[in-house]
Amino acid sequence: MNEADQMKKLVGEAAVENVEDGMKVGLGSGSTVYWMVKKLGERVKEGLDVEGVPTSNTTAEWAREFGVPLTDFSKVQELDLTIDGADEVDEQLHLIKGGGGALFREKVVAAAAKELVIIVDGSKLVSQLGKFALPVEVLPFGWEVTAKHIAALGCSPQLRTAGEETYVTDNGNYILDCPFGQIKDPATLHNDLKDIVGVIETGLFIGMADKIVVGKQDKVEVISK
Ligand code: A5P
Repeated sequence: MNEADQMKKLVGEAAVENVEDGMKVGLGSGSTVYWMVKKLGERVKEGLDVEGVPTSNTTAEWAREFGVPLTDFSKVQELDLTIDGADEVDEQLHLIKGGGGALFREKVVAAAAKELVIIVDGSKLVSQLGKFALPVEVLPFGWEVTAKHIAALGCSPQLRTAGEETYVTDNGNYILDCPFGQIKDPATLHNDLKDIVGVIETGLFIGMADKIVVGKQDKVEVISK
């Protein structure tokens, strides 16, 4: 395992310490979350009573593989905790998410949780968001028009692809990766994007994270709101 994967494993496993018996837990997406779900499965085998709501089909598969019981919003509308990864975290704990394409479900699940814990390695901490191209989920119908309106806000949106094909989210939508550069006012940009017809959701998570579990070399630090 390389150093980056070791870091993901370290923070993914550390975050599971936030999970208590009887909790309903939102399960994020991405390669760091993989380790969290795996560890959670081990805790379930040891007797932990927990149910998870997955943010992607891939996470649901991991949960089944590792034995984490799943539930859904038809049975539970409030979660005790959500644990998820991120692509960038700024000093106000605002986030860019969606590098893995699951941002919409991630935001729904995060919004349903009393607490959002984010797991990242130290390289994802930034003073200002925007070096990572902002993922925006859009409706396939008329995506070209939506892209044009997004471009008017100051970037050149790129339609995400998977090999030769257009990337399609679990919700059947497209992702536009939007390189805005330094985002001075994330909340305003998020609102401006949401005002565009055809935009389903943005990867800007403003004021949602409560705690960041950060991996730095061989230790874990926790940043709280
Ligand atoms: C998935 O859509 C994303 O929001 C991920 O949480 C984010 O990209 C972090 O993924 P990694 O843990 O794989 O870096």
